[in-house]
Amino acid sequence: MKHISIAIDGPAGAGKSTLARQAAQRLGFLYVDTGAIYRTVALKALESSADPADPEQVVPLLDGLNVKMDHGPDGGQRMFLDGKDVSDAIRQHRVSGAASQVAAIPQVREFLLDFQRRQAREHDVLMDGRDIGTVVLPDADVKIFLTAAPEARAHRRARELELRGEKADYETILHDIIRRDEQDRNRPVAPLRQAEDAVLVDTTRLNLEESLEALLAAIKERT
Ligand code: C5P
Repeated sequence: MKHISIAIDGPAGAGKSTLARQAAQRLGFLYVDTGAIYRTVALKALESSADPADPEQVVPLLDGLNVKMDHGPDGGQRMFLDGKDVSDAIRQHRVSGAASQVAAIPQVREFLLDFQRRQAREHDVLMDGRDIGTVVLPDADVKIFLTAAPEARAHRRARELELRGEKADYETILHDIIRRDEQDRNRPVAPLRQAEDAVLVDTTRLNLEESLEALLAAIKERT
């Protein structure tokens, strides 16, 4: 039986992860957060004292890389690195920048491609990332490009960090979001862009509940 796949792409902080997880749960689909996979590779680089921007230091780490993914009853995705649960560790601010750097390395993307495609072959998936509709699942049944103004995204990220007890300076976060967007949009491999056949969902003026409804409506329209 062919499985249904939904691709959700967009920049950092548009509420993708939260919304995608909730939408997947409503639809009974497996939620795959591909950013978490890049973050786990980035954490491996940081823990190995490798420069995440240097392919010569990062690529050798892929050999024997032990990354696993698991899904809890709430549909939340947990990541394991070398057998250790790193789901919280990969959310640290320093890992975000490093993830964007390792994600610009072609060998890292190639390495993770099979893993991501296998999920879509084996399950009905709702997969979120930057290049799902354009590269990973170009034949996805539904493609959504979820975005919001950088300022709205920075506010949300600041709140998220505060709730976790991390220091959150709005201006720094906004600056980092803009830099990360630029890095993701301008890299030569799999840059962040809206697929031609993707539906645009802008959550700048929507709260979480309204965003979820907008997302589900866009999915329903296409399935
Ligand atoms: O989505 P999240 O912010 O957790 O992703 C972390 C980083 O991983 C992004 O800034 C992006 O550079 C990279 N990424 C990617 N392709 C994906 C998912 C994430 O390049 N499909």
